[in-house]
Amino acid sequence: MATIIAPSILSADFSHLADEIKKVTDAGAEYIHIDVMDGTFVPNITLGSPVIKSIRPTSKAVFDVHLMTEHPETHIEEMAKAGADIITFHAEVARHAHRIIQQIHSLGKKAGVAINPGTSLSMVEELVEDAEMILIMTVNPGFGGQKFIESMLGKIHMLYHMIDEMETECDIEVDGGINAETSKLVREAGANVLVAGSAIYEAIDVAQAIKDIRGEEIIHHHH
Ligand code: DX5
Ligand code: ZN
Repeated sequence: MATIIAPSILSADFSHLADEIKKVTDAGAEYIHIDVMDGTFVPNITLGSPVIKSIRPTSKAVFDVHLMTEHPETHIEEMAKAGADIITFHAEVARHAHRIIQQIHSLGKKAGVAINPGTSLSMVEELVEDAEMILIMTVNPGFGGQKFIESMLGKIHMLYHMIDEMETECDIEVDGGINAETSKLVREAGANVLVAGSAIYEAIDVAQAIKDIRGEEIIHHHH
């Protein structure tokens, strides 16, 4: 599976968002990762649907919205209307996760389910068949620029095999501490959608940073 690069605009200059988005899509990024934080599920508040709505006409990229909010079901419709293409919510705050996937699908969008480093894969096992993407957090959510948690590699690999054994299709996204070095490890473990904030936006040569994170295509052998 070809690797998809999803720069996180959390590390962008918010006073020039349209330019910051153009900069990374011109450099080859397929997705734009948009971190929505509510100040409750995670300490900070970032941005919401009005901002997504205002940047939507400036870009054709896939908008990959990562909801770090409590009560995700109350935000799905506004995110869809604002222009999200993929809406990812956290399993930890979803009382009816499967229903939220149905809600996202009913709005014509792709559904992702995220789990924190301390959350077991069993939280998403029953959702793999119906969600388009599972997001394995490789840092504790809330801030950019944190260190990659290496012990998540086993979880990524287990999810890869789970999806393979179920003979279904589901993207594996990773988010947090992804750079040229850690990207190789997560790609080898089976991740195919790579979020990177600081490693892309703090790079002097953004196109090179994206190339380095994308790396070589890994061929997985099915067992
Ligand atoms: C963290 C966010 C990430 C963040 C990643 O809670 O979900 O998307 O922007 O930033 P880096 O790539 O700098 O770890
Ligand atoms: Zn994120």
